[in-house]
Amino acid sequence: MKNSILTSLLTLACISSGCSQSVEERRSNLKDIADGKFLIGVALNTTQTDAKDEKIMNLVNKHFNSVVAENCMKCEVIHPEKDRYDFTLADEFIKFANENQMHTVGHCLIWHSQLAPWFCVDEEGNNVSAYILKQRMKDHIHTIVSRYKGKVHGWDVVNEAIEGNGEWRKSKFYEILGPEYIEYAFRYAHEADPDAELYYNDYGMNESGRRDKTVEMIKNLQSKGLRIDAVGMQGHMGIDYPNISDFETSINAFASTGVKVMITEWDMSALPTLNMGANISETVEFEKLLNPYPVALPDSIDILWNQRMGEFFNLFLTYSDVISRVTAWGLTDDNSWKNNWPMKGRKDYPLLFDRDYEPKPFIQNLFEKECINK
Ligand code: GLA
Repeated sequence: MKNSILTSLLTLACISSGCSQSVEERRSNLKDIADGKFLIGVALNTTQTDAKDEKIMNLVNKHFNSVVAENCMKCEVIHPEKDRYDFTLADEFIKFANENQMHTVGHCLIWHSQLAPWFCVDEEGNNVSAYILKQRMKDHIHTIVSRYKGKVHGWDVVNEAIEGNGEWRKSKFYEILGPEYIEYAFRYAHEADPDAELYYNDYGMNESGRRDKTVEMIKNLQSKGLRIDAVGMQGHMGIDYPNISDFETSINAFASTGVKVMITEWDMSALPTLNMGANISETVEFEKLLNPYPVALPDSIDILWNQRMGEFFNLFLTYSDVISRVTAWGLTDDNSWKNNWPMKGRKDYPLLFDRDYEPKPFIQNLFEKECINK
């Protein structure tokens, strides 16, 4: 309904601007809009890549030229036990990516979360020695990166090592090896595939503490002659965060070190941000607060959401000399992780395409502008 109203408005705008094509013809695609500026990526899960659902395949191929695996290359899936790798899902994902000639991102090599439980501890559950952890990291990174050499264009080597206040995250990797674990990870990845691009990836990159520490970390890697090609700003956003100018300050700060910037996990929750630290139990009331729009998004929120997404996309276009990729963390609203976090089974509206596989109004606006500019 909303889309058809929007389409009529677009038609009027187009008629008055002298465009002679029909609305359908004027619908463009995201990857063309960003052509020559940055790659347009999407995170896919294995249900999407395996099922060969025509609707999904068409949508992915029409709008995107880069893919990343949402989960199947994470440690707990790909290396569940010390002496056992399981490449079943990752191989299928890479096959899908290569068959569809997508720029392919490997996600992620070293991360404290979704980490196989054995990785940093011995059989009694005590931390392993620094020597053993280095060996394990080396084996893990070498095995995975070598397997997909020439097929994965770039790797998220380290994910989420820095806290918002600028301190190192106190992960097991940090506890055992200190911040040097980051250098080891980048070194091992480069050894395994010298041609692959290597990235550092984190969330909340608008926060000044994390921003400054990330810059310091990049400079440290560079001073040691280690390869780092880009910083991934995850871009999990909300209706009231981040502040766009803080985000822009971070783009500039990262770019000033000479690396590229990537928006790697873009989504924007349309639901209110709640203070999870508050003393609220899991009552029906609380569930209502967490899942306020189980039927549809109110128009006022929809408009605000689209306005913010449009502003961010324009910011990315403005910085296309330093931004090399913008990747959405999911394809359509019904498939987003946000529907299950921080509460299972809620209804969020965070992605670029809605539950009917239709582009959101801010994207339709981009298509419309494209038509006028042509
Ligand atoms: C982080 C990770 C992603 C994903 C999201 C939430 O951003 O980098 O792989 O797990 O959390 O799903």
